[in-house]
Amino acid sequence: MTIKEMQDEILRIKKENDICILVHAYESHDIWEIADYVGDSYGLSRQAATAPQKNVLMCGVRFMAETCKILSPEKKVYLSHPEAGCPMAEQLEPSMIAYYRKQHPDTTVVAYINTTAELKTVCDVCVTSSSALKIVNNIDNQKILFIPDRNLGSWIKEQCPDKEIDLMHGGCPTHARLTKEDVKRAKDAHREALLLVHPECQPEVYHQADYIGSTTGIMDFAKKSSSREFIIGTENSIVQHLQMECPDKRFYELSKECVCRNMKLTTLADVYNIVKYGEGEIIEMEEEVRLLAKKPIDEMLRLGG
Ligand code: 13P
Ligand code: SF4
Repeated sequence: MTIKEMQDEILRIKKENDICILVHAYESHDIWEIADYVGDSYGLSRQAATAPQKNVLMCGVRFMAETCKILSPEKKVYLSHPEAGCPMAEQLEPSMIAYYRKQHPDTTVVAYINTTAELKTVCDVCVTSSSALKIVNNIDNQKILFIPDRNLGSWIKEQCPDKEIDLMHGGCPTHARLTKEDVKRAKDAHREALLLVHPECQPEVYHQADYIGSTTGIMDFAKKSSSREFIIGTENSIVQHLQMECPDKRFYELSKECVCRNMKLTTLADVYNIVKYGEGEIIEMEEEVRLLAKKPIDEMLRLGG
């Protein structure tokens, strides 16, 4: 079977079996091509809430499939690979938030969507990288605890000087690999290129960027820009996707190291086996956890517009 034949078979069976395939932008291009929707974490959450199909296959990482289940409990939600977790999502325990709340009872706890369902149950509002600034500005409280991504939290803090934002120690190990030395090396090698980075990067990296935004934000910026060359400071699959979508422009990796192992676990063959044989993990969740975790996600969708 060729890649094209496997893709055609997936497209045929998913229609027959009423499956919606949602794909995060960090997945590979052969998986993009069989998606009902490709996007960043915010776009995927919105699609999860509105997809008309009875079954959803989330090609991404566990917290994304959990978000889908939280928003659509009546649907059968598949995770594309059982080991595809996000290390950042598991860095904080609910008890740490409960302890903080006791010391700071009047603080709003803002959780990046890259958190487990269990951690979401003790938070007030979720955000994604593309919606964080708007949502934090819309929160009717000056005192905020932003978890778990310290880099994204610092970036938001810089832009909201009137808010008192506390941070905890956490972050994405993939984006943390990017350094100011990488920026120097890439800028020296590509003097005309604009630097586009994800806010999960360290401040020493995003402070030198021409644009900071989510995966979709970076892609939209590069497509619309009149510039022709770009250094990309996020997961390296975005470099390939952009090169395929904009063949007349030129895209460079900020570093060869920016590869998320978890996002790379799912293969086209996994997708084929799930739609054809019902393999893959089906997300289950206790109703009590789901209802509590839904509150901050609903709040995100309300404040994010
Ligand atoms: P966005 O999808 O919000 O750009 O976040 C990137 C990411 O790391 C997802 O895990
Ligand atoms: Fe988690 Fe970072 Fe991978 Fe995103 S890129 S899934 S935040 S480890």
